[in-house]
Amino acid sequence: MELKTVFSGVQPSGALTLGNYLGAIRNFVDLQHKAKCYFCVVDQHALTIPQDPARLRERTLDLARLFIACGLDPDISTIFVQSHVPAHSQLSWLLECMTYVGELRRMTQFKEKSRTQEVVTTGLFTYPVLMAADILLYDATHVPVGDDQKQHLELCRNIANRFNNRFGETFVVPEPYIPPRQAGGRIMSLTDPTKKMAKSDENPDSYILLTDPPDVIRAKIRKATTDAGREVIYDEKTKPGVSNLMVILSLCSGLRLDEISGRYDGYAQFKKDVAEAVIAKLEPIQRRHRELSEPGAIEHALAIGATRAEAVASRKLATVQDKMGLVLRESL
Ligand code: TYM
Repeated sequence: MELKTVFSGVQPSGALTLGNYLGAIRNFVDLQHKAKCYFCVVDQHALTIPQDPARLRERTLDLARLFIACGLDPDISTIFVQSHVPAHSQLSWLLECMTYVGELRRMTQFKEKSRTQEVVTTGLFTYPVLMAADILLYDATHVPVGDDQKQHLELCRNIANRFNNRFGETFVVPEPYIPPRQAGGRIMSLTDPTKKMAKSDENPDSYILLTDPPDVIRAKIRKATTDAGREVIYDEKTKPGVSNLMVILSLCSGLRLDEISGRYDGYAQFKKDVAEAVIAKLEPIQRRHRELSEPGAIEHALAIGATRAEAVASRKLATVQDKMGLVLRESL
């Protein structure tokens, strides 16, 4: 499908990791010059697990600052907060009435997350339907995400097709835009390279945050799990730790994997180069992030973003309500 409209969302559940950046946000920055783009801070998704209210508010604004610090331009892309556009939760309800419990039960992210929670809320269960609503409101043709969101996008496509079949062409069926593993689609934990890098991991040595200072980055990479032997070669099966660090080095330095392969004798210099490449990549982002932390800098951009998003979303919502048989208030 032609690349026309892009939608993606990120949860404000703490600072962003290098995985979020290399798997998703880096691509948002490229795509904003190629398509009409919507980038959303999905605060309502964050509520699916317990949050401290004051911290959630601060993290929501801070994620928007980080979007801009990473290179998203609010004059080109629509950057907004999910809860500012009520059509997201309204469409989510309508789509819930077209989604099967069995489909949601199969979601691996739900299975994994519900295992770590003391109580499992309905919101955590229906989370992927809200995600489908996010995407379908804007007629997104492409959704740039990391590999872990593949199953949610497949569900979104199923819901869109089901709706179109029952009520006539209404939704654009979106395509995933997921980089291959070697291009950052799945950045792994530094301490256990069989798991993805995630900010929810209880061991902070397992992830790099975009806001980590240089010394912290050096220490985390020095401690990163490597594999038996001393060769620096790409092999996800026998050398998952080294392969993950090679992908990080490649994406932060611009070197190709085959240029890195065989270049090192042992891991010490290799790890130093990975750390310095990450520090150099994050330095301009951290500088802009500090500048944007001035009070008021981000609020204006988010107000404009919400107005732009709302205009598109409310029109789509009305079409859906009408097709499903709700009486539109404006028709009275
Ligand atoms: P979230 O907030 O967990 O992550 C944001 C983005 O970062 C990607 N990502 C990774 N990519 C590579 N390696 C990793 N280790 C890694 N960890 C995270 C995620 O795939 C994601 O693209 N459900 C979504 C948020 C969402 C959304 C949407 C996305 C809500 N509505 C609509 C797209 C469209 C989530 O929890 O992402």
